[in-house]
Amino acid sequence: MSGIIPRAFIDDLLVRVDIVDLVDAHVPLKKTGNNFVARCPFHTEKTPSFSVNRNKQLYYCFGCGASGNAIGFLMDFNHLDFVEAIEDLASFVGVPVLRDTGGISVDVDKQTVAPVYSVLQNVADYYVEQLRFAPEAKQAVEYLKIRGVNSSSIKNYAVGFAPDDWNSLEARFGKQQLIDAGLLVVNDDGRAYNRFRGRLMFPIRDKRARVVGFGARVLDDSVPKYLNSPETVVFQKNREAYGLYELLKKNARPARILIAEGYMDVIALAQAGVDYAVATLGTATSKAHLDLLFRYTSELVLCFDGDVAGRQAAWRAMDVVFAAIKEGRQVRVMLLPQGDDPDSLIKKEGRQSFEQRISGAQTLSDYFFETLASQASLGEIEGRAHFAELAHPFLNKLPEGIFKQMMFARLNELAKMPVKQMLSSGALSDSQNNRGQSRPLVQGKTQITPSRMVIALLLQNPRLIEFVEQREVVWGELEFPGVELLQTVVNKIIQKYPANAAILLEMFRDTSEFKTILALTNLELLVLDQDVENVFCATFDRLLAQAKTLKRNRLLDHAVAVGLAGLTEQERAELKGKI
Ligand code: GTP
Ligand code: MN
Repeated sequence: MSGIIPRAFIDDLLVRVDIVDLVDAHVPLKKTGNNFVARCPFHTEKTPSFSVNRNKQLYYCFGCGASGNAIGFLMDFNHLDFVEAIEDLASFVGVPVLRDTGGISVDVDKQTVAPVYSVLQNVADYYVEQLRFAPEAKQAVEYLKIRGVNSSSIKNYAVGFAPDDWNSLEARFGKQQLIDAGLLVVNDDGRAYNRFRGRLMFPIRDKRARVVGFGARVLDDSVPKYLNSPETVVFQKNREAYGLYELLKKNARPARILIAEGYMDVIALAQAGVDYAVATLGTATSKAHLDLLFRYTSELVLCFDGDVAGRQAAWRAMDVVFAAIKEGRQVRVMLLPQGDDPDSLIKKEGRQSFEQRISGAQTLSDYFFETLASQASLGEIEGRAHFAELAHPFLNKLPEGIFKQMMFARLNELAKMPVKQMLSSGALSDSQNNRGQSRPLVQGKTQITPSRMVIALLLQNPRLIEFVEQREVVWGELEFPGVELLQTVVNKIIQKYPANAAILLEMFRDTSEFKTILALTNLELLVLDQDVENVFCATFDRLLAQAKTLKRNRLLDHAVAVGLAGLTEQERAELKGKI
């Protein structure tokens, strides 16, 4: 989908929506005092600790810490990505989504995308109808029988048949839409013909049930075995997973999702009761795939065929896997016996054995180190050095945390040397870059320091900026923990004077400070509404005074060290003025 959603449009949505109404439409709320409460939709609980604040336009759960504004709520509650959440919020508010396409804002969704979705759906229906009723689909029906696909699978996955001709589609549907949807191929002299002919058709549906493309299989041994839809305005291969819609229809929160390679694998697995598998669309697994799937589950099992190509694909996936790992995300790797794919294996050994294989699949760390070890001879120093060299770039992609530490510990053990030190030249740049911000201001149970109080009050009540502006602060002279963050917040507020905390929070969404900002936005300050201004001014003034004292003490120390004569004019003046 083209066109950027303008920032101003998003702000406008956040002004128009009342988060209380929005949340209430998903989770019925009860009013208590200033807040609206409910049992938290993001974790299981008996007594309500989820609350929505109308003034701040934010929600917060005291039980699990879930928090955010209206956009964050839709993203988390409905498992949407940012753009989808904006689309839903717009429709909740009742306005069309604006997109900025270089000057003119147009409602792209309505103007170009809708007909493409609709032709894809109509053609999918047509293919289904062909499979059921067309005499020439007999061979396809026969083929599905041979492959053991039963009628309920055919129905669940809306499997169809594309008749073996060149222009049946154009006779029934609009030509331009068919071209836009990737269903017609246009040759050099401008003539268009059916892309898919005489093939079994597997519609690929996005998680909102919309057909976005097709996979198409021949009925015999001819090549290419599969044809897939090209990328279109509604179809990006590395963002869709075959079978995800069908999976989520059955279970919105699967304990794990298995990523297989083929369409037929997904169908055969589901038919046998392993109804939590998806397949990539003939492309390698991408980080976008992993991020997409991790929205629904905390564990992904990457399943690859046991042949050389499968093993290579598994290793190649490590690049994106390491980049996608975060706290609460687990990956395991499952290599099938040589010569089998999930489809053939589950037919051979049944659901139970197959699921045993899934539970027994290697953890990411086991798979990673074993595979690497097989490529380096750990008995020799050179081999171990090589091993460490190979492993290092992968481990460096991991976010700081226990898992990374454990992976390095294991690497050290296997390489018999402290790898982090040995290879620190590469690692250093990373950690050095982070040094400035490496100690997050907010961690676990947060102590409320004056500086946090000021930042949090500002975030929660952006109107307090008035009192900052009154004070004409010279930022360069200030020195206290968090001063940079405070300045960042002040600058953001001054950019557009957001009407409420939710809009201010939104301005930080894609910044490295987002987590810290979110935590401070939610920090329980125990300041009564009527005291907010006084507390803010008093605390801020105290910080300013502290910074002054600190500066004066420095100057005094300096004067003692170099003697009064060693001071510059300005320093002397400053010292005089302040003593
Ligand atoms: P069958 O069991 O033979 O129907 O296929 P499969 O699902 O086991 O497929 P296979 O393991 O051969 O390939 C895995 C996936 O790669 C398929 O589901 C397709 O998405 C893709 N693929 C396979 N062959 C081709 C091909 O010839 N062209 C394209 N574009 N993709 C292919
Ligand atoms: Mn197969």
